[in-house]
Amino acid sequence: MQTLVTDRPEEAASWLDRGETVAFPTETVYGLGADAFNAKAVAKIFKAKGRPSDNPLIVHVATPERIGEVAAEISETARMLVERFFPGPLTLVLKKRDSVPEIVSAGLPTIGVRCPSHPVASEFLRYCRHPVAAPSANVSGRPSPTDWKTVYHDLGGRIACLLRGEPSAIGLESTIVDCSVNPPRLLRSGAVSIESLRELVPDIEIATSCKPGEAPKSPGQKYRHYSPEAEIVLVEAPQESLPLDPPAAWIGLAAPPAGATKSLQCHDMDEYARVLFGFFRACDAEGIRTIYCELPPDEGIGRAIRDRLAKAAGRG
Ligand code: TXA
Ligand code: MG
Repeated sequence: MQTLVTDRPEEAASWLDRGETVAFPTETVYGLGADAFNAKAVAKIFKAKGRPSDNPLIVHVATPERIGEVAAEISETARMLVERFFPGPLTLVLKKRDSVPEIVSAGLPTIGVRCPSHPVASEFLRYCRHPVAAPSANVSGRPSPTDWKTVYHDLGGRIACLLRGEPSAIGLESTIVDCSVNPPRLLRSGAVSIESLRELVPDIEIATSCKPGEAPKSPGQKYRHYSPEAEIVLVEAPQESLPLDPPAAWIGLAAPPAGATKSLQCHDMDEYARVLFGFFRACDAEGIRTIYCELPPDEGIGRAIRDRLAKAAGRG
């Protein structure tokens, strides 16, 4: 299959409406979309990514008003979260409408819904007839793509169309909150922090899948995720001397230790989140064997960075 690369959201949407898969930019990571009401089209996503069929997809809507097309029920808490955080990097798990094909939710009675704030994503979604089911646009098990070239590298030849945009501004996948249970539960950390969620929902619970090292509770959390080929070593505090085994790389907020073959010192946690997955990929391309990663403070987006690092190290 030839993959058409385009800058035009309208053209990309026309492929989607014809039952094909389309990769598109969002503010978190790039997604691989299909018409959420076309089970055959959605099956193409699982095939292109090599994704296990028991891992449900997030459905993307152009505006918060369209959540009702896929969700049967929107609780009072969910409404508050929508009001405050949509459009943006937050996914809500809600009771699913029966009309949404089972393949999207992997047989679950619930559905993840998100409304991206990225202008190109919004325009694309407005042109699409239906809401768009989309996981991250990577081959399963690899780090999520944050720029279009990486999507092309992973999925070129396996998808019909790639809508090209700027690199993703956040760089980590959306925060997921399950609002189908009471109290609501945080299933995945992201740019919408637990601190800001607690301002609105003080009794929100943190699922064990969000606590690195504990057993997974939500379907997608049980798979090895976000992983580069290189071995990941987590470093709790900045260290002057690490017993580096070259070729080794360093990423973190502190200055790199002496002897690192490749390194990236981030100015703040937002930058750390934005560049992390791209750094993993660049390390693999350069044959780095070990990547030393500084664990940032466990607050704000630092919590999401720690979660992805733990998963990449095989401990999440
Ligand atoms: O930022 C994002 O969320 C990106 C962009 C493209 O929107 N998407 C993304 O999708 O990260 P994906 O498939 O890579 O991760 C979706 C996660 C999986 O861990 C899946 O198990 C979980 O969401 N999920 C989806 N529906 C769910 C449901 N009904 N209940 C619990 N977890 C659900
Ligand atoms: Mg993914």
